[in-house]
Amino acid sequence: MSETAKLELDGKVIDLPVITGSENEKAIDIRKLRAETGYITLDSGFGNTGSCKSGITFLNGEKGILRYRGYPIEQLAEGSRFMEVAYLLIHGNLPKENELNFFEEKLTSFATLPEGITNILDQFPADAHPMGVISSVISSLSAFYPEFLKSDLTEVDKDRAIAQLLAQTKIITAYFYRKSRGLAPHRSHPSLGFAKDFLNMMFFEEGKEVDDEVAKALDVLLILHADHEQNCSASTVRVIGSSHANIFATISGGIDALWGQLHGGANQAVLEMLEQIKQAGGDYKQFIEKAKDKNDSFKLMGFGHRVYKNFDPRAKIIKKACDTILDKLGVDDPLLDIAKGLEQEALNDEYFKERNLYPNVDFYSGIIYKALGIPTNMFTTMFVLGRLPGWLAQWKEMREDPDARIARPRQVYVGESTRNFVSLKDR
Ligand code: SDX
Repeated sequence: MSETAKLELDGKVIDLPVITGSENEKAIDIRKLRAETGYITLDSGFGNTGSCKSGITFLNGEKGILRYRGYPIEQLAEGSRFMEVAYLLIHGNLPKENELNFFEEKLTSFATLPEGITNILDQFPADAHPMGVISSVISSLSAFYPEFLKSDLTEVDKDRAIAQLLAQTKIITAYFYRKSRGLAPHRSHPSLGFAKDFLNMMFFEEGKEVDDEVAKALDVLLILHADHEQNCSASTVRVIGSSHANIFATISGGIDALWGQLHGGANQAVLEMLEQIKQAGGDYKQFIEKAKDKNDSFKLMGFGHRVYKNFDPRAKIIKKACDTILDKLGVDDPLLDIAKGLEQEALNDEYFKERNLYPNVDFYSGIIYKALGIPTNMFTTMFVLGRLPGWLAQWKEMREDPDARIARPRQVYVGESTRNFVSLKDR
């Protein structure tokens, strides 16, 4: 007997089906609500609204649980590498050796950019924000690969587009970094592995080798950012993709959503905030008070989360990695001490405790990126490189979902009721 929820409206009781997920999450299926009652629901920010059924990532915000396709994030961060996790998210299982080799082999066929794309990249001013550059250039890929503009993509089309975006987004990112500093671009060597290849393209110097442990640190960060169920940018990817817009436009939209300070842009904002505190003599207490002041729009960047009302498991791993990596690199960054002091102060403050505000994935990640030599205005592009497989997995799942429909929410109209037009001369 399937479970139902009873809703009494205008003296009528209607039964709404209850859906139970594989981790026993419950949802009321309201797809028939308007047709049967004329009512819709209202949920600004969709905090209580499921947009889809998905088998990709499971979060439990109360317990601080994060799993990709059932595998705990702690185990993946410890034992796998980013390309394995990308395969896992996109195809649903951890790859066997031959599957992983074939997956990575596909990326090598996109190890160079079309000349038209490098011409476009060369037009951007050196001080352009990298997120705007990457979003624009990813969208312009549709001009060079028109075969992806069709609506009915085959399996081969999807796999090819996925490989192309995984390969070329990192090349575009590194190309713009070097160009913006007057450096000649350095070509991709996929055989180095995703993270090491990226760092080599970014910081190439004759006779210098990217340190394997530094590359490993970046690889772990990319794993930690790879997916996070229906976050703002993944939902944007699903919404754009639901209209059957091409994959390049779809991913470009996800990049733009991630750019916002309340989302992926927070990692850059955290570093700027820590620098501000350092300039203010390290007095983080005044910033805690600012964050609590309702008349001040300042928020403690890197703190709080829509879902995690406990520690963000990724923040725990990154915080631990901070000490290891800075130690390995011999970097003594006072911003890390300020971050730890700020965290302790906030975690012991009633305002933050009452609202379950804990450090999120963005709180410590910027300190590691800074130690790796990534400029602050490129921190969110690192989030793009990490999140890309998650967006692609969400897009693929949505496009293959027989129940998927074009995203088209309703609204409650609160504007003027009907009135007659008055011509300009009579107004
Ligand atoms: C990411 O969704 C995802 O999964 C995102 C992400 C992913 O992997 O995709 O995890 C990545 O985007 C992490 C979040 C990065 N953003 C920041 O660090 C920016 C600072 N954080 C806040 O802006 C906020 O916490 C959000 C945006 C993250 C969450 O916003 P919500 O869920 O809408 O929470 P809210 O604004 O309703 O806050 C509830 C209360 C409010 O106070 P009251 O009205 O109850 O008095 O908590 C307060 C807020 O003012 N609050 C904060 C705060 N975050 C929430 N107060 C001070 N500083 C903060 N950071």
